[in-house]
Amino acid sequence: MTDSTAKLEFRGQTHEFKVRAGTVGPDVIDIASLYATTGAFTYDPGFTSTASCESEITFIDGDAGILLHRGYPIDQLAEHGDFLEVCYLLLYGELPTKAQKDDFDHRVTRHTMVHEQMSRFFTGFRRDAHPMAVMCGVVGALSAFYHDSTDISDPHQRMVASIRLIAKMPTIAAMAYKYHIGQPFVYPKNELNFAANFLHMCFAVPCEEYKVNPVLARAMERIFILHADHEQNASTSTVRLAGSSGANPFACIAAGIACLWGPAHGGANEAALNMLSEIGHVDRIPEFVARAKDKNDPFRLMGFGHRVYKNYDPRAKIMQKTTHEVLGELGIKDDPMLDVAMELERIALTDEYFIEKKLYPNIDFYSGITLKALGFPTTMFTVLFALARTVGWIAQWKEMIEDPRQKIGRPRQLYTGAAERDYLPIAKR
Ligand code: SDX
Repeated sequence: MTDSTAKLEFRGQTHEFKVRAGTVGPDVIDIASLYATTGAFTYDPGFTSTASCESEITFIDGDAGILLHRGYPIDQLAEHGDFLEVCYLLLYGELPTKAQKDDFDHRVTRHTMVHEQMSRFFTGFRRDAHPMAVMCGVVGALSAFYHDSTDISDPHQRMVASIRLIAKMPTIAAMAYKYHIGQPFVYPKNELNFAANFLHMCFAVPCEEYKVNPVLARAMERIFILHADHEQNASTSTVRLAGSSGANPFACIAAGIACLWGPAHGGANEAALNMLSEIGHVDRIPEFVARAKDKNDPFRLMGFGHRVYKNYDPRAKIMQKTTHEVLGELGIKDDPMLDVAMELERIALTDEYFIEKKLYPNIDFYSGITLKALGFPTTMFTVLFALARTVGWIAQWKEMIEDPRQKIGRPRQLYTGAAERDYLPIAKR
């Protein structure tokens, strides 16, 4: 990586800052010394032009619609890999050998059960509580049950906590679903792979044998791979910032879940499906497209647009293919929701407004149709996103914690409030 410099003229002085180049992607101007040398801050609400860290995990080229995990294109990983293989790659930087994969699978599989007392934790929630609210509470409570892996200065405890989180998220997610629908919890089965075990815990009932459909299990694995990591998105940045204070990994992941819940982020998959069902029929699409373009209408096309992708989200293409695979396997010939989605995409991609603003379908546009076809209620969609993204959050947290330059994140501000003034007794106000 070659270095050069950038010059800043400020209040009659010239300041020079180092420019660093990455392996690929935009250069960065290192402004760490800016405040000390100029007395001024940079100002970038929403961090549209700010690199918050250096990372080797995931690279996105938004203009080209490229997503790499440790250099491997997402379409190759989704096509050929399984979810735990991608977890290993994100955590350790290389694809595992057979022996490494078998050992990793073994370690994760044997951490899938949760402390039996956690099942009583659920009974405190109303049955109709949103499963994401339950996930925020239960995952945050993990540090109360697994205190022996909360010392972040101990590499062994960091590894155990990472494996526990990856392994237990499907179990907790399935428990949140079963509690929501009033069915008994189903324990993990060690002979099933990651996605098949999750589907079994969600859809098996004690009264009869439940055989997981291998085509649907493969589709579930691929959906998890597509959601695994995505560089410094809002929830990952939340996890990094929480982790920078030394908070334990269970608390950091709970913070990531809370941030992911927002409809502008991971909550968009639930919002996108609700939007498609509100549109209901292709005849009503023009009405909603007009609302999305209307500056005075807060309505946005959920599942469209992205801070980084100004091209088609590569995950959306794979998700669309998976949607057709799942609907085909389930014999769902004409899903009105899919008809609306396909026609909405066609109209939006030819509409001047969307072309000019480079708004394309993102991963959340098709995922809802697929997850609904798999049998999940819309309230579970973001839970599945959180389940898959846990490995990305953990890998990014691990990278931050292991960086010797790591320090607590503490942004500054542009203060536009009142200047100093004296207290006025109430009688004089
Ligand atoms: C995820 O960051 C990640 O990597 C996230 C994610 C991940 O894997 O972690 O990829 C997952 O969160 C995907 C995004 C899911 N969210 C949605 O689908 C919600 C709908 N999309 C928008 O809310 C919006 O596109 C965002 C939040 C995704 C991006 O917003 P930005 O980058 O802040 O862009 P913006 O809001 O400034 O929009 C730019 C312009 C605006 O118009 P102008 O003010 O310039 O005239 O585009 C318009 C917006 O009004 N616009 C839309 C739109 N998205 C942006 N107009 C209509 N419909 C939309 N969906």
